[in-house]
Amino acid sequence: MSVVRPKPSEDPISYNPAAVLATGGISQADLDRQVEPLEEARRACLADLDRWRSGQAGAEPLDPAFIDLPERLLADYGTKRPDSELFAILGTARRLRELVDRVVVLGIGGSYMGMRALFEACCHPFHNELTRAERGGRPRLSFEGFNIDNDSAQGLLDLLAPVAGQTDSDDLLNQWAMLVVSKSGGTLETAVATRLFLQSLAQAVGNDPARLAERVVPITGASGKLASLAETLGCPDVFGIPDGVGGRFSVFTAVGLLPAAVVGIDVVQLLEGAAAMTRRFREAPVAENPVLQYVAVAHAAEETMGATIRVLSSWSNRLEAIGFWYDQLLSESLGKDEKGATPLTAVTTRDLHSRGQQHQEGRRDKLITNLCVGEPRRDPLTLPALVGSTGNEDQLDDLLGTSWPTMLTAATAGTNEAYASAQRPTATISLPRIDEHTVGQLLQMLMLATVVEGRLVGTNPYGQPGVEAYKKLMMKRLRPGG
Ligand code: PA5
Repeated sequence: MSVVRPKPSEDPISYNPAAVLATGGISQADLDRQVEPLEEARRACLADLDRWRSGQAGAEPLDPAFIDLPERLLADYGTKRPDSELFAILGTARRLRELVDRVVVLGIGGSYMGMRALFEACCHPFHNELTRAERGGRPRLSFEGFNIDNDSAQGLLDLLAPVAGQTDSDDLLNQWAMLVVSKSGGTLETAVATRLFLQSLAQAVGNDPARLAERVVPITGASGKLASLAETLGCPDVFGIPDGVGGRFSVFTAVGLLPAAVVGIDVVQLLEGAAAMTRRFREAPVAENPVLQYVAVAHAAEETMGATIRVLSSWSNRLEAIGFWYDQLLSESLGKDEKGATPLTAVTTRDLHSRGQQHQEGRRDKLITNLCVGEPRRDPLTLPALVGSTGNEDQLDDLLGTSWPTMLTAATAGTNEAYASAQRPTATISLPRIDEHTVGQLLQMLMLATVVEGRLVGTNPYGQPGVEAYKKLMMKRLRPGG
């Protein structure tokens, strides 16, 4: 976390579906009936891991290695320290922090959404606007390569070379580096952005190949076009995305951890949180298991109440990008064979003024899961006296001194009560606070829940064969004779 660093905590996050049951749409008996199938799905997910490890994957896509990745990374860091992946990640992060003041991350889908989620959840909300001193010497972070948007790429290039024709200067604040993230190494959006930003970076370092190489950090699979480029450029640091970890499950590889460490996120705490969630998933009985309870409720709501839309409703701006990451995770994992719920991210109270009407009175096809945060990281703001008047024109004097958290709690309780009055199913995931440990738990919980649900409903959660269709047709137009 940058700038403000409260005590690290290890409080568990929790899941509470009581308000879903209270609608009467599903009952405790519906959940109890799923105990056996859920235990079986849990066993299947853990068996996937054994199957993959023993090389018996077969022809089906199988990427379960994310399940125990956090504990493996931490164990290696504890025992083999200088030879561990985490040590290498932290070393490169330190090198980049000392070398540059901005890092551009190029990647799309699973190769960028997790990182963005970590950045928005864990860093100062205006990290990039702070001075380097206020950022504690941590570089700014920018994202590209996640679209083919001419003007936003141009906009970032403007930032990187603010003065026309300017080449490298000694000023650290003008220095930048790029992380190129692509597991396949061939995704068009990322590859064209790589060319574009390499050109700009080469100019910035006076076309010095050694200086260019040290500012490009590829994160990619063992072979492929990006791995070849890394070799040709002579990049001193190249990170792999391990076999058995798919793109959207890669947030706890170098894909998420390297940029996170660059901007000062405590990656050990993140991994500790994720590992703690895996332990709960493995060990807790179904009734006390947040992963399995989440799946039980979501599945029963879909089957029994027709809730095919899952709204993840964040009560903090800072968790919105986690919602977008989860949209991708659920869509690409379970949106297959004409099945799979549709995920939707909302930020409340903001979206109560856009979606609230529909959630309250629209089609009964939604399960709302609140993401609630126990306490803010910063000192609570309180409503001040009205400046420039003693007339109480805004009629808020009775709320003088009321804190922002108190108002948010009232909004949450009021919204839940309103939904309950219309029998709208509303569950809650509670985070004691937003920090690396709770964010690590939450991301791991949602990844585990996704694969468990896949095994429960007979959908292979790994692979995304449907995405190939647009790629083929796009390339056919770009290379008509090819
Ligand atoms: O989850 C996935 O595997 C995808 O969303 C990929 O991350 C995305 O398509 C980008 O692929 P790549 O990392 O190969 O560039």
